[in-house]
Amino acid sequence: MGSRRHARLAPLSLRIITEPTTEILSQLYQVEVSAHQEPWTQDDIASTFSDNTRCIGLYLKEELIGFAVICVVVDEADLYTIGVCKKYQGLGFGTKLLAASLRECVKMGATRCFLEVRVSNEVALHLYDRFGFTITGTRKNYYQGSHGNPPEDAYTMVCDLTQQPFEDIEAASA
Ligand SMILES: CC(C)(COP(=O)(O)OP(=O)(O)OC[C@H]1O[C@@H](n2cnc3c(N)ncnc32)[C@H](O)[C@@H]1OP(=O)(O)O)[C@@H](O)C(=O)NCCC(=O)NCCS
Repeated sequence: MGSRRHARLAPLSLRIITEPTTEILSQLYQVEVSAHQEPWTQDDIASTFSDNTRCIGLYLKEELIGFAVICVVVDEADLYTIGVCKKYQGLGFGTKLLAASLRECVKMGATRCFLEVRVSNEVALHLYDRFGFTITGTRKNYYQGSHGNPPEDAYTMVCDLTQQPFEDIEAASA
């Protein structure tokens, strides 16, 4: 694994992961555990693969360092999850991953994207705000609490995908 300093210079690629092989699921799970305070299990990740969902992987050389899962039904998308390995956070990779994920939503026919986010997750809230997501409400104790964490409310957010200059947002954060 390379250092954070070299990560920005290393070849980055975004790939749709179609085959949830045992090896891929294990890699996704390692990213999940590194990124999230209440990680999904490997089975949770496996169960997201369906005709309506896409798993977008972010690779640094050949190493999976982040992924997002979107679900599109007719013209509405949901961002199920997005995360970047802890050691590579804050380097602009989450911005690239979100842009790619929203582009995929558009490609699949979505005009709006919905998500939930912890009310305390300032980095994610900032990221979503940059992409034009707005808060539509609060879900009380949406995150039930595990791994020693207390329950926490979620903001529900929505983004109009027809208005998004994703390239501009990526370029500004590069
Ligand atoms: C949320 C997450 C995907 C963002 O990815 P990232 O690679 O860390 O974010 P980026 O480097 O692209 O930065 C996105 C924005 O947040 C800001 N930011 C990043 N890390 C920050 C930090 N620690 N403190 C304050 N701002 C920060 C960046 O400056 C950037 O804003 P800008 O474009 O206005 O400059 C990533 O931090 C992550 O995996 N977090 C844990 C999992 C999670 O919370 N997922 C979301 C659940 S809904």
